[in-house]
Amino acid sequence: MKTALLMILLGLCLADDEISNKRFPDEFMFGVSTSAYQIEGAWNEDDKSESIWDHMVHTNPDFIADRTNGDVACDSYHKFDEDLAILKETGVNHYRFSLSWTRILPTGYPDNINVAAVKYYKNVINKLKENGIEPVVTIYHWDLPQNFQDLQGFVNDSISDWFAEYARVCFSMFGDDVKYWITINEPQQVCTGGYGYGYFPPTIKSEALLEYQCVHNLLKAHAKAWHIYDDEFRSKQNGKVAITLDTSAYLPASDSDEDKEAAERIQQFTIGIYANPIFNGDWPEVVKTRVAQRSIAEGRSQSRLIEFTQEEIDFIKGTHDFFGLNVYTGYLVESLGYDPPVSEPPSKWQDQAVNTYQPSTWETTSTQYTKVVPWSVRSLLNWIKNHYDSPKIMITENGYPSSGNDKDDRRIYYIKGYLSNIRDAMEQDGVDVFGYTVWSIMDNFEWASGYTQKFGLYEVDFNSENRTRRARGSASFYKKVIETRCLVDNCI
Ligand code: NOJ
Repeated sequence: MKTALLMILLGLCLADDEISNKRFPDEFMFGVSTSAYQIEGAWNEDDKSESIWDHMVHTNPDFIADRTNGDVACDSYHKFDEDLAILKETGVNHYRFSLSWTRILPTGYPDNINVAAVKYYKNVINKLKENGIEPVVTIYHWDLPQNFQDLQGFVNDSISDWFAEYARVCFSMFGDDVKYWITINEPQQVCTGGYGYGYFPPTIKSEALLEYQCVHNLLKAHAKAWHIYDDEFRSKQNGKVAITLDTSAYLPASDSDEDKEAAERIQQFTIGIYANPIFNGDWPEVVKTRVAQRSIAEGRSQSRLIEFTQEEIDFIKGTHDFFGLNVYTGYLVESLGYDPPVSEPPSKWQDQAVNTYQPSTWETTSTQYTKVVPWSVRSLLNWIKNHYDSPKIMITENGYPSSGNDKDDRRIYYIKGYLSNIRDAMEQDGVDVFGYTVWSIMDNFEWASGYTQKFGLYEVDFNSENRTRRARGSASFYKKVIETRCLVDNCI
């Protein structure tokens, strides 16, 4: 036991004999994921209007590491057949992709449904189904209509109605053929990235203030969409609707109660702030109490974390048909040992009051913060199981970024290690995971990193007009896993 703990802390590699030899169930869904802005291109074709990402890349090219943009990206708007070919070649059970709001509704509102966009997505969905691939459709993956951003985007209370109306159009246009819906992808990136630290459009820096207002509105937006499905579509369409939450796994750096509490606290501030209202009702207690106390100490008359009314708590609670989880890495967490003094403006770090780190011995990837920590996913899955009454979980994203020049063995190691720990969580801990999704089937526009971070099982040649797709080693590895449902040579 001591040796295992030491291995974990040192981040030593998983040996082959530590990889699970348990077969994945036949019905387990193995898939891959993409999103509209990152692959489609055709940013202004067929009446599509401007999203916040179109706006950012065109008005501030320096925002993107390599000054590129998603104007063409993988050109999937014109090359879906090529995408389909590589999905078939990999043998995936499902394909998770997103719909572009500004393509479907060029004004953002449902007053004018774009026929060309509907035709495009219907073709995608039909061809997937004809080939036995289950579509998993994300309604919102960060590409907000710019005209809504001009009205303050997610901090305008009307966002929940704008989004709900758009979701209704999606359900009514495509819902007969879609069994898995994701309302919103990675809300933490929307609110913390967009309104907290400001590293994503609209780049507003209002940590622990507008950031929390965004969370409040976003949860209402998700819940309205879920209720629309439940009330108007579920009985005919029989699908499942969930939100996809992202977090890293946060593990106490020691056995001390203080570090354990610190790990619990940051997990609540990152994922609990979204999951607790949806699965249990209301904000997580520790988040609610800490922010309220600190707000009063700052001289405010009410908490920076807007309280929910009882009606809102009841409306949001239960709006899940499964738990969508994106996870890439893990951190160790230490208590600060003191409560940071209040300051103006407030900070999220002060609200959370923890120190996180990744030991330098942990294997790194091409991005500084995405270290390879396969064992951490098992702890996170157990945390979710214990806090949210054993939900059914679909891992909607997990993947390995590289600079693209390396051999693909580390991506294979990463996927194998994470899948092994997921399998152990299912088998030994009774966590109900029913699907796993690699980000991504192919290299694509990695937001502020442009094309510098490559997540693809397939490489894309962004210098060729054809955007040629070419399999990496991990594509054949994953294909074999899907075929055999097994991570080693002989499964039991
Ligand atoms: C999170 C996001 O959902 C996706 O858009 C992004 O490209 C990947 N993870 C990798 O960073």
